[in-house]
Amino acid sequence: METLTGMERTENCGELRITDVGKEVKLAGWVSRRRDHGGLIFVDMRDRSGLVQIVFDGSTEGLDFAKAETLRNEFVIGVRGKVRARSEDTINPKMATGEIEILVEELRILNKAKTPPFYIQDGVDVDENVRLRYRYLDLRRPEMQKNIMLRHRVTKIMRDYLDENGFLEIETPMLCRSTPEGARDFLVPSRLNPGQFYALPQSPQIFKQLLMVSGFEKYFQIVRCFRDEDLRADRQPEFTQLDIETSFLNQDQLLTLMEGLIKKIFETTLDVKVEIPFKRMSWDEAMRRFGSDKPDLRFGMELQDISEFVKGSEFKVFNSVLERNGQIKVIRVDDYADIPRRELDGLVEYVKTYGAKGLAWIQYSAEGIKSPFKKFYSEETFEEIKQATGCKTGDLLLVVGDKPSVVAQALGELRLEMARRRNLIDADKLCFLWIVDFPMFEYVEEDKRYKAMHHPFTSPREEDIELLLTAPDKVKANAYDIVLNGVEVGGGSLRIYQRDVQEKVFEAIGLTHEEAYSKFGFLMDAFEFGTPPHGGIAFGLDRLIMLMAKRKSIRDVIPFPKTQSAIDPMSHAPNEVDDKQLRELYIKTTVKKNKE
Ligand code: AMO
Ligand code: AMP
Repeated sequence: METLTGMERTENCGELRITDVGKEVKLAGWVSRRRDHGGLIFVDMRDRSGLVQIVFDGSTEGLDFAKAETLRNEFVIGVRGKVRARSEDTINPKMATGEIEILVEELRILNKAKTPPFYIQDGVDVDENVRLRYRYLDLRRPEMQKNIMLRHRVTKIMRDYLDENGFLEIETPMLCRSTPEGARDFLVPSRLNPGQFYALPQSPQIFKQLLMVSGFEKYFQIVRCFRDEDLRADRQPEFTQLDIETSFLNQDQLLTLMEGLIKKIFETTLDVKVEIPFKRMSWDEAMRRFGSDKPDLRFGMELQDISEFVKGSEFKVFNSVLERNGQIKVIRVDDYADIPRRELDGLVEYVKTYGAKGLAWIQYSAEGIKSPFKKFYSEETFEEIKQATGCKTGDLLLVVGDKPSVVAQALGELRLEMARRRNLIDADKLCFLWIVDFPMFEYVEEDKRYKAMHHPFTSPREEDIELLLTAPDKVKANAYDIVLNGVEVGGGSLRIYQRDVQEKVFEAIGLTHEEAYSKFGFLMDAFEFGTPPHGGIAFGLDRLIMLMAKRKSIRDVIPFPKTQSAIDPMSHAPNEVDDKQLRELYIKTTVKKNKE
C-alpha cells in the first residue's frame, strides 16, 4: 500500500548534510540521472534546491524494487527513506550533498516523462533554438534556475534598498502615446478609437518626470520597456529596467546613492568586495583613450596617437588622412610581433566592418622592424614611435588612420577583439565606471540634423545653454552612464525643468514649435505649474544580471526571451491573426500571403 502522496516532503534534496545522518526523510523531485547496478540502483534526485543521491537496494524490506527499475530521467517521484553517510571512497566532493545518500524505503512515481530533447544538466551543448523551443525544460537546468533565482534576489535587494532610502514604487502606463526620438515603437491599435494607436513604452521617461511634478520626490519601478530595434546578445525587444527618478538631488548625490545600491547588490549576492566611489571619466577621455563610451577597463591596450611622428612623409595614405583633420592611432599588442600574416589579413577585414578603410602595423621583432609603410620612414622615426608607445622588442602596433570617429570605432573594437584573442581579460574582475560629460547632441548624417545623444529631456550644462542654437556641437549634457566591464548597464541625466530651455532643445534637434507642442505639449504645460529640479537613471536589469551570472547573452537571464529575429520558438509569437480580429481593429495587412 502506498502511503506517499508526494505532497508531504520534509526536506529539500540539495540541503541535506552529514549532520542529517539517521534522519527519516520524505523528498519530492525529478530523476536527474540513474545508474542501474543490478540489485542496486542509484538515482540523482533533483528539486529546486539541488541534487541528492538516493539508493534503491533490492534487499530493502517492503520496497517495490521492480518499480524502481522503471524509473527514467525526468520522472517525478516522491520517496521516503533514511539519510546515511556514504563510505569514504564514495564521497563526492563536487556535490554539496556528496557526503550522504538516502536509502529509499518507499517510492511513488508521481508522473512519467518522455525522453527530453536534451540533457537536463549544466553546460549542455545544444542549439539555442532547441533550448528556447523547450524553454520549460531548459529552465529546469540548475544553472538556469540559479540565474532566475539571482534575478529574484537582486530585485528584492533593489526594492529594500530604495524603500530604506525613501523611494516609492509607482506604476506607469503600458499603453502610451507614440512619441518621436528614440527607437522604433511597438504599436497597439485602438479598437475604440479607429485608426489610432497606442505605443508600448520605450521607458517610463515622461511619466516619471511628471511624477516629480506631482511631488512624489523619489520614485522607482522595476518595469518592462519595449523597443523595436535590431537585436543583439545584450538587446531584447522587451527588457526590464530599474527605473529611478528623484527631485532636489544633484548629480553627485544621485550617483553616490546608486553606488551604494550596486555595492549592496554585489556584496550580498556574489560575496565580492566592491570599492566605491566608482571611477569617473569624461566622455571625451573615454573616446580618446579607449575609442568607446563604454570602455572595458579590465585590461589596458589604450589607443595612442602617433600622428605627429608620421606626418609630412611620402606615405600618401597617412598624408591624406592628416590633411583632412584625421588622426593616426595605434594599439599596442604586447609580445605579438610574430603575429602570423594570415591573422593580420583577417584583422584588416575586421576593422573594415567597423568603417576603417584599412589597417597597418609595425612589428618590432628581434629580426628587425616589419611594416607596410617601412620604406616611407627612417629608422629613427620607428624608434621614436617605439619609445612613445612604450613598445619593447617583440611587441606589435596595430595602426588605423581616419577621421576621429572612425578611428575610435575601429580601434576600439579591435582592442576588444585582440584582448579576447590574447586572453587578456580577467573574468573575475569587476570594473565599474561612470562616464560623465556627454555631448548633448550628435549629428545624424542621413537626416542632416542634430539628435539628442541621451534624450531630449536631458539638461545641458548650465554654462552651455547659450550655445544650444549657435554651437550645438560644443554643448555638454548633465548625463551619465554606468559601465561594468565594457557593458552599459545604466544611464540617466539631470532633466530640463524650465519650459524655455526645453523649447530651445527641441528647436536644436529640428522640431518646430508646433511639432514640439503637438508631441510633448503635456510635458511643457506641466513645466509651467511648479516643476522641481529633478533627475534620474535607469539600469538595464537584464544586462546587470547577465554580468553577475557571467553569461554572454541576456537571453540566459530572461525566463522567456525572444530569438535574434524577435521570435518565441515555443509559443510561436508573433503570429498571424484572423481577418475578423483585424477588421475589428480597422486594420488590413499589406503583406501578400504565400500561396504554396
Ligand atoms: P536608456 O535608453 O539608456 O535610458 O536605457 C537604460 C538602460 O537600459 C538598458 N537597455 C536595454 N537592455 C536590454 N535590451 C535593450 N533593447 C535595451 N535598451 C536599453 C541599458 C541601458 O543603459 N529613460 C532613460 C533613463 C533615464 O534617463 O533615466 C532610458 O531609458 O542597460
Ligand atoms: P593602399 O594604398 O590602400 O594599398 O594602402 C597601403 C597600406 O596602407 C596598406 O597595406 C595598409 O597597411 C595601410 N593602410 C591603408 N589604409 C589605412 C588606414 N585607413 N589606416 C591605416 N593604415 C592604412
